[in-house]
Amino acid sequence: MIVAIDGPAGSGKSTVAHAIAERCHLTYLDTGAMYRSVTAECLRQGIDPADAAAVTRVARATTITFGTSPAGQTVTANGRDVTAEIRTPEVDRNVSAVSAIPEVRTAMVELQRAYGETGDVVAEGRDIGTVVFPKADVKVFLTADPAARALRRAVQREGGDAAKDASATADPAEVERILADLNRRDQLDSTRKTAPLKPAPDAHHIDSSSMGVDEVVAAICALDPRLE
Ligand code: C5P
Repeated sequence: MIVAIDGPAGSGKSTVAHAIAERCHLTYLDTGAMYRSVTAECLRQGIDPADAAAVTRVARATTITFGTSPAGQTVTANGRDVTAEIRTPEVDRNVSAVSAIPEVRTAMVELQRAYGETGDVVAEGRDIGTVVFPKADVKVFLTADPAARALRRAVQREGGDAAKDASATADPAEVERILADLNRRDQLDSTRKTAPLKPAPDAHHIDSSSMGVDEVVAAICALDPRLE
Protein backbone atom coordinates (compact mmCIF):
# COMPACT_ATOMS: atom_id res chain seq x y z
CA MET A 1 0.00 0.00 0.00
CA ILE A 2 1.32 3.42 -0.96
CA VAL A 3 0.02 6.70 0.45
CA ALA A 4 1.34 9.77 -1.42
CA ILE A 5 1.24 13.19 0.24
CA ASP A 6 2.37 16.18 -1.80
CA GLY A 7 2.14 19.88 -1.17
CA PRO A 8 4.06 23.12 -0.70
CA ALA A 9 6.65 23.75 1.99
CA GLY A 10 5.28 23.94 5.52
CA SER A 11 1.83 22.57 4.70
CA GLY A 12 2.17 20.00 7.48
CA LYS A 13 3.11 17.03 5.27
CA SER A 14 5.83 15.72 7.59
CA THR A 15 3.76 15.85 10.77
CA VAL A 16 0.76 14.27 9.05
CA ALA A 17 2.72 11.60 7.16
CA HIS A 18 4.59 10.67 10.33
CA ALA A 19 1.33 10.36 12.28
CA ILE A 20 -0.23 8.19 9.55
CA ALA A 21 2.85 5.96 9.51
CA GLU A 22 2.54 5.39 13.26
CA ARG A 23 -1.21 4.92 13.31
CA CYS A 24 -1.42 2.62 10.27
CA HIS A 25 1.97 0.87 10.60
CA LEU A 26 3.41 2.15 7.33
CA THR A 27 7.02 3.10 6.64
CA TYR A 28 7.49 6.87 6.58
CA LEU A 29 9.50 8.23 3.65
CA ASP A 30 10.56 11.89 3.79
CA THR A 31 11.73 12.57 0.22
CA GLY A 32 12.50 16.23 1.00
CA ALA A 33 15.14 14.98 3.47
CA MET A 34 16.82 13.16 0.56
CA TYR A 35 17.14 16.32 -1.58
CA ARG A 36 18.24 18.18 1.54
CA SER A 37 20.93 15.55 2.26
CA VAL A 38 22.37 15.89 -1.25
CA THR A 39 22.35 19.68 -0.82
CA ALA A 40 24.11 19.48 2.57
CA GLU A 41 26.71 17.14 1.10
CA CYS A 42 27.36 19.56 -1.81
CA LEU A 43 27.74 22.51 0.56
CA ARG A 44 30.11 20.51 2.76
CA GLN A 45 32.25 19.60 -0.26
CA GLY A 46 32.23 23.20 -1.53
CA ILE A 47 30.28 22.28 -4.67
CA ASP A 48 28.23 25.02 -6.33
CA PRO A 49 24.55 23.93 -6.34
CA ALA A 50 24.31 25.42 -9.86
CA ASP A 51 27.01 23.03 -11.18
CA ALA A 52 24.64 20.31 -12.43
CA ALA A 53 27.34 17.79 -13.38
CA ALA A 54 29.12 18.03 -10.03
CA VAL A 55 25.86 17.95 -8.03
CA THR A 56 24.73 14.89 -10.00
CA ARG A 57 27.99 13.12 -9.10
CA VAL A 58 27.35 13.89 -5.43
CA ALA A 59 23.73 12.68 -5.66
CA ARG A 60 24.83 9.37 -7.18
CA ALA A 61 27.64 8.88 -4.66
CA THR A 62 25.67 9.73 -1.51
CA THR A 63 24.16 6.92 0.52
CA ILE A 64 21.21 8.23 2.52
CA THR A 65 19.80 6.27 5.44
CA PHE A 66 16.92 6.96 7.82
CA GLY A 67 16.77 6.00 11.46
CA THR A 68 14.80 6.94 14.55
CA SER A 69 15.71 8.53 17.86
CA PRO A 70 13.50 9.60 20.79
CA ALA A 71 13.44 13.08 19.16
CA GLY A 72 12.14 11.72 15.84
CA GLN A 73 13.60 10.76 12.48
CA THR A 74 17.36 10.80 11.97
CA VAL A 75 19.14 11.03 8.62
CA THR A 76 22.68 10.09 7.62
CA ALA A 77 24.53 10.92 4.41
CA ASN A 78 27.50 8.62 3.74
CA GLY A 79 27.36 7.56 7.38
CA ARG A 80 27.45 11.13 8.74
CA ASP A 81 24.51 12.30 10.88
CA VAL A 82 22.97 15.21 8.96
CA THR A 83 19.66 15.38 10.86
CA ALA A 84 20.20 18.96 12.06
CA GLU A 85 22.35 20.14 9.16
CA ILE A 86 19.66 19.48 6.52
CA ARG A 87 17.28 21.92 8.29
CA THR A 88 19.60 24.94 8.27
CA PRO A 89 18.68 28.16 6.39
CA GLU A 90 21.66 27.54 4.08
CA VAL A 91 20.18 24.23 2.95
CA ASP A 92 16.72 25.89 2.68
CA ARG A 93 18.27 28.46 0.35
CA ASN A 94 19.98 25.95 -1.95
CA VAL A 95 17.79 22.84 -2.00
CA SER A 96 15.46 23.99 -4.79
CA ALA A 97 18.40 24.51 -7.16
CA VAL A 98 19.66 21.01 -6.39
CA SER A 99 16.24 19.37 -6.73
CA ALA A 100 15.61 21.04 -10.10
CA ILE A 101 18.46 19.08 -11.72
CA PRO A 102 16.83 16.25 -13.73
CA GLU A 103 19.67 13.74 -13.13
CA VAL A 104 19.50 14.36 -9.38
CA ARG A 105 15.78 13.63 -9.49
CA THR A 106 16.35 10.43 -11.48
CA ALA A 107 18.76 9.17 -8.82
CA MET A 108 16.41 10.07 -5.93
CA VAL A 109 13.28 8.66 -7.59
CA GLU A 110 15.05 5.34 -8.10
CA LEU A 111 15.83 5.16 -4.37
CA GLN A 112 12.29 6.22 -3.47
CA ARG A 113 10.75 3.52 -5.66
CA ALA A 114 13.05 0.95 -4.08
CA TYR A 115 11.50 1.94 -0.72
CA GLY A 116 8.08 1.35 -2.23
CA GLU A 117 9.13 -2.21 -3.11
CA THR A 118 9.87 -2.98 0.54
CA GLY A 119 6.27 -2.82 1.75
CA ASP A 120 3.65 -0.30 2.84
CA VAL A 121 4.85 3.27 2.63
CA VAL A 122 3.56 6.77 3.29
CA ALA A 123 5.75 9.08 1.24
CA GLU A 124 5.70 12.87 1.28
CA GLY A 125 7.18 15.37 -1.15
CA ARG A 126 6.33 17.35 -4.28
CA ASP A 127 6.04 14.72 -7.04
CA ILE A 128 5.04 11.56 -5.21
CA GLY A 129 1.56 11.22 -6.69
CA THR A 130 2.58 12.54 -10.13
CA VAL A 131 5.97 10.90 -10.79
CA VAL A 132 7.33 8.63 -8.05
CA PHE A 133 4.21 6.56 -7.35
CA PRO A 134 1.61 7.48 -9.99
CA LYS A 135 -0.37 4.38 -9.03
CA ALA A 136 -0.41 5.17 -5.29
CA ASP A 137 -3.48 3.83 -3.48
CA VAL A 138 -4.18 7.16 -1.81
CA LYS A 139 -3.06 10.57 -3.11
CA VAL A 140 -3.38 13.76 -1.12
CA PHE A 141 -2.41 17.32 -2.02
CA LEU A 142 -2.04 19.11 1.28
CA THR A 143 -2.09 22.90 1.37
CA ALA A 144 -2.42 25.66 3.95
CA ASP A 145 -2.39 29.41 3.60
CA PRO A 146 1.12 30.92 3.55
CA ALA A 147 0.79 32.67 6.94
CA ALA A 148 -0.22 29.41 8.64
CA ARG A 149 2.64 27.55 6.97
CA ALA A 150 5.25 30.13 7.98
CA LEU A 151 4.01 30.19 11.57
CA ARG A 152 4.17 26.38 11.80
CA ARG A 153 7.76 26.31 10.52
CA ALA A 154 8.80 29.10 12.91
CA VAL A 155 7.23 27.33 15.90
CA GLN A 156 8.86 24.07 14.81
CA ARG A 157 12.29 25.80 14.70
CA GLU A 158 11.72 26.84 18.32
CA GLY A 159 10.96 23.25 19.29
CA GLY A 160 7.13 23.44 19.31
CA ASP A 161 4.43 22.04 17.04
CA ALA A 162 1.77 24.54 15.90
CA ALA A 163 -0.19 21.77 14.20
CA LYS A 164 -0.77 20.28 17.65
CA ASP A 165 -0.87 23.49 19.69
CA ALA A 166 -3.16 26.11 18.12
CA SER A 167 -2.05 28.81 20.58
CA ALA A 168 1.68 28.51 19.68
CA THR A 169 3.38 31.78 18.66
CA ALA A 170 6.80 32.75 17.28
CA ASP A 171 8.96 35.82 16.73
CA PRO A 172 7.16 37.86 13.98
CA ALA A 173 10.47 38.77 12.26
CA GLU A 174 11.37 35.08 12.05
CA VAL A 175 7.89 34.27 10.68
CA GLU A 176 8.40 36.94 7.98
CA ARG A 177 11.80 35.52 7.03
CA ILE A 178 10.42 31.99 6.82
CA LEU A 179 7.41 33.17 4.81
CA ALA A 180 9.75 34.74 2.24
CA ASP A 181 11.77 31.53 2.02
CA LEU A 182 8.67 29.33 1.65
CA ASN A 183 7.26 31.55 -1.11
CA ARG A 184 10.58 31.58 -2.95
CA ARG A 185 10.96 27.79 -2.73
CA ASP A 186 7.34 27.14 -3.76
CA GLN A 187 7.82 29.40 -6.77
CA LEU A 188 11.01 27.57 -7.82
CA ASP A 189 9.55 24.12 -7.08
CA SER A 190 6.32 24.71 -8.99
CA THR A 191 7.89 26.31 -12.08
CA ARG A 192 10.81 23.92 -12.69
CA LYS A 193 10.68 21.80 -15.84
CA THR A 194 11.13 18.36 -14.27
CA ALA A 195 8.52 17.05 -11.86
CA PRO A 196 7.20 20.41 -10.65
CA LEU A 197 5.13 20.74 -7.51
CA LYS A 198 1.55 20.16 -8.64
CA PRO A 199 -1.38 18.01 -7.61
CA ALA A 200 -1.96 14.71 -9.40
CA PRO A 201 -5.29 14.83 -11.29
CA ASP A 202 -6.67 12.17 -8.95
CA ALA A 203 -5.35 13.68 -5.69
CA HIS A 204 -7.67 14.62 -2.83
CA HIS A 205 -7.12 18.27 -1.89
CA ILE A 206 -7.02 19.09 1.80
CA ASP A 207 -6.53 22.63 3.10
CA SER A 208 -5.11 22.29 6.61
CA SER A 209 -5.06 26.04 7.46
CA SER A 210 -7.63 25.70 10.19
CA MET A 211 -7.37 21.96 10.89
CA GLY A 212 -5.43 20.25 13.66
CA VAL A 213 -3.10 17.37 12.81
CA ASP A 214 -5.56 14.77 14.15
CA GLU A 215 -8.29 16.13 11.92
CA VAL A 216 -6.08 15.96 8.83
CA VAL A 217 -4.94 12.44 9.69
CA ALA A 218 -8.56 11.34 10.21
CA ALA A 219 -9.57 12.88 6.87
CA ILE A 220 -6.80 11.00 5.04
CA CYS A 221 -7.44 7.71 6.82
CA ALA A 222 -11.12 7.97 5.85
CA LEU A 223 -10.08 7.82 2.17
CA ASP A 224 -9.21 4.11 2.24
CA PRO A 225 -10.66 1.37 4.46
CA ARG A 226 -7.18 -0.12 4.90
CA LEU A 227 -6.17 3.04 6.78
CA GLU A 228 -9.12 2.97 9.20
O1 C5P B 1 9.70 18.83 2.04
P1 C5P B 1 10.89 19.74 2.23
O2 C5P B 1 10.52 21.16 2.46
O3 C5P B 1 11.85 19.22 3.25
O4 C5P B 1 11.65 19.66 0.84
C1 C5P B 1 12.81 20.42 0.59
C2 C5P B 1 12.96 20.67 -0.89
O5 C5P B 1 13.25 19.45 -1.57
C3 C5P B 1 11.75 21.26 -1.62
O6 C5P B 1 11.69 22.67 -1.50
C4 C5P B 1 12.00 20.81 -3.04
O7 C5P B 1 12.89 21.66 -3.71
C5 C5P B 1 12.68 19.47 -2.87
N1 C5P B 1 11.78 18.32 -3.02
C6 C5P B 1 11.48 17.92 -4.31
N2 C5P B 1 10.74 16.79 -4.50
C7 C5P B 1 10.28 16.09 -3.46
C8 C5P B 1 10.55 16.50 -2.14
C9 C5P B 1 11.29 17.65 -1.95
O8 C5P B 1 11.88 18.56 -5.27
N3 C5P B 1 9.59 14.95 -3.70
